[in-house]
Amino acid sequence: MEKPEILEWLRTEDEGDLSRLWQMADNARREKVGDDVHLRGLIEISNYCARDCGYCGIRASNDSVSRYRMTTEEIMESVRLTVGYGYGTVVLQSGEDYGIKTDWLTEIIKKTKKETGLAITLSLGERDDSDLLAWRDAGADRYLLRFETSSRELYDRIHPPLPGRLSDRFAILRTLRQIGYEVGSGIMVGIPGQTYDCLANDIQLFREFDIDMIGIGPYIPHPDTPLGRTLRASTAISSDQVPNTELLTCKVLALTRLTCPLVNIPSTTALATINRADGREHGLSRGANIVMPNLTPRKYRELYEIYPSKASCDENADESNSRIRNQICAIGRTIGSGRGDSHNRKMAA
Ligand code: 5AD
Repeated sequence: MEKPEILEWLRTEDEGDLSRLWQMADNARREKVGDDVHLRGLIEISNYCARDCGYCGIRASNDSVSRYRMTTEEIMESVRLTVGYGYGTVVLQSGEDYGIKTDWLTEIIKKTKKETGLAITLSLGERDDSDLLAWRDAGADRYLLRFETSSRELYDRIHPPLPGRLSDRFAILRTLRQIGYEVGSGIMVGIPGQTYDCLANDIQLFREFDIDMIGIGPYIPHPDTPLGRTLRASTAISSDQVPNTELLTCKVLALTRLTCPLVNIPSTTALATINRADGREHGLSRGANIVMPNLTPRKYRELYEIYPSKASCDENADESNSRIRNQICAIGRTIGSGRGDSHNRKMAA
């Protein structure tokens, strides 16, 4: 699909066209990756962050956040829960926390590999090449790093770099691929200043970069952030501004399935947050094939508030697991077994 067609779909409001889009995406999903929904146990291991991203609730300068870093034993307990629920993958996610030392995490990765057959996904921000290499050598399989937007200008406006460094997520994505990780990326939809043109470029970049897993969620304003405090009125003037709605998020998700048919696409927590009733199901029936139930210990959940009212904050691991299983079965899909590796990588290998 070329850019003009992507743009047309992004802008359409026609009900008939939209149901056609959902149908095409759902068909492509079924045909290319099947009916299985793979579950990934998400453990938010630390909310410390060295960065000051304009939209994120756990940004360094938000001092209303109490910071935590899980202990090795706490992490291993959540890893065991992941195995107990029958998932094939554990995701270790955190802010860009340099208190997470190379060797400390290396040991956790090795321990997890030794004790379980789980695939390990890391999502720890823009770490140095040497860290990425050490963790890959220790057994980590995948790395998630969203590029958030392909517009360099918009990216720079909301991602202040660390002193003396350049923030180049595309360079990191290339490195990850070279080192042998399965590579995940993605974007937020509806960032103030983001245009339809930007979104069409983002979708094309997923394909150009040959990304294996693509996470797409709506931007949700957080009141303790510079971007969240900007009044919508001041940014919504332009008719080019994309809204941070469920509808637009689903369009991007469906178009991503059509342009990158083999990839893994999660139905994200942010999507489930802006439509609590059936956001998760909409994602799954419009192209997604992955869900990442939150298995973070209950006491830490509300401290990992990247955006407000995050779905899953009011549950424990057992509740998240059974609610998500029910949602998947209710729409006639099956729960995947095994690691759920990206079909995109398998084809490339
Ligand atoms: N709204 C929506 N998504 C957010 N993220 C961070 N802050 C927000 C927000 N306010 C997303 C980013 C990041 C991922 C882990 O969470 O896309 O990559």
